[in-house]
Order: sequence, then structure tokens, then C-alpha cells
Amino acid sequence: MNANFDKNVILEKHLITRFKREIKHNHKSIVLWFTGLSGSGKSSISNILEQCLFKKCVHTYILDGDNVRTGLCSDLNFSISDRTENIRRIGEVSKLMLDAGMIVLVAIISPYRYQRKLIRKMLGESNFLEIFVDTPIQVCENRDPKNLYKKARKGEIFNFTGIQSEYQIPEKPDVHLDGTQSLKDNAKKLIKILYDRNIIPFFNIC
Ligand code: ADX
Repeated sequence: MNANFDKNVILEKHLITRFKREIKHNHKSIVLWFTGLSGSGKSSISNILEQCLFKKCVHTYILDGDNVRTGLCSDLNFSISDRTENIRRIGEVSKLMLDAGMIVLVAIISPYRYQRKLIRKMLGESNFLEIFVDTPIQVCENRDPKNLYKKARKGEIFNFTGIQSEYQIPEKPDVHLDGTQSLKDNAKKLIKILYDRNIIPFFNIC
């Protein structure tokens, strides 16, 4: 129950429903939640996937950890409680986008199991796919596209995931991607899963 119900805030029902939007869009909505270390490939895979979906007029949006932290979550740091709040806010935005009939691609480290579990509960089992981008930390550290691993090793940044701060590997992700494989192969794998789950009506698009 939402705490605001006690404050005389009452949910407004809209005439244009998620179902109507899904029919109009010719696909269903879902949240694809990419979790993994910094540099694992979450953003890159979601970008390629979105490009393939966009070509087929699928309504998508990427919520990327780095980008969201420049606006909606710019007041948050990398403490455990701030990361939990970051994830909660992104979960709530995803929920609105689900209602808007979109396929939402969330690329965010989300390092703790309980945080991801909370989101699954918030969105509902059928609306959420946890996608583990599994890339060994040595590979992420070699890639180091933003030089953050180097800075963390030198002690110039703190609480860096995988170095000074924990990343809890998903025990039973809905999808397990090998982050050392090509971006396109991983995007194709996801397209096939969306097709098999009746989210999109086509699969040979990437
Ligand atoms: S999360 O832990 O709250 O899920 P989020 O995905 O939003 O993290 O942000 C991670 C991004 O912030 C990384 O890709 C990296 O570019 C940047 N970053 C800066 N400092 C840190 C840090 N201490 N730990 C992890 N990522 C960091």
C-alpha cells in the first residue's frame, strides 16, 4: 500500500491504458534490467539491442546508470543506501514507462541481490527480466573505458564496485549473458527471448 493513500492522494484512472498502448504499438511492454560490473557491457549491449528494436518501430528507452546520475539521481553517491535509492527511483521510472507501453532497457550495476529483488517485487514477475552481463572483473579492468578501475586502484575514488565495494552475482538471473561475446550475438539472444515470450512479434531483426 502506498503511504500517500493516508494523505488523501488517490490514484487517477486513465482512459488510455497500458493494454491499449500495447495494441497500438504492436508489442508488449517489459523491463529488461541489465546488471553487472562497470565495464561489463550493460550499456553497449542495450544500445545495440535498442538500435535493432528501433528499426522495427518498437517503443524503447534506455535508463543508463551514468546518465540518470546526471539528473534525477544527481544528489546520490555510491554508499549502499544511496545506491538503493538510485535503484528504487529507476525502478519507479521504469514502472511508469511500462504503463506507457514501452520496452525499457535499464543498464545499472545494481550490485546487491536484495535491491534487484525489490525491483522484481515492485514491477511484478511478468514485467521484469533480470539480465546478468557476466564479464570477469579482469576483462572489465582491462577495458576500463572511463579509467575508473585505474583511479580506484590508486585510491582516487572510493566504494568502487568490484574493488572496494561488493558485487553480488545473481543466483538465478532470467538471462545470463557472456559479456565477452560479441555485442550483436548478445543482442540477438535477447531479441529471440523477447520473441519467445510474445513481447515482440518478430525475431530476425539484428
Ligand atoms: S549503482 O551501483 O547505483 O547501480 P550505477 O549503475 O547507477 O551504480 O552507476 C555506475 C556508474 O557510475 C559506473 O558505470 C561508473 O561509470 C560510475 N561510477 C563512479 N563512481 C563509481 C563507484 N564508486 N562505483 C561504481 N560506479 C561508479
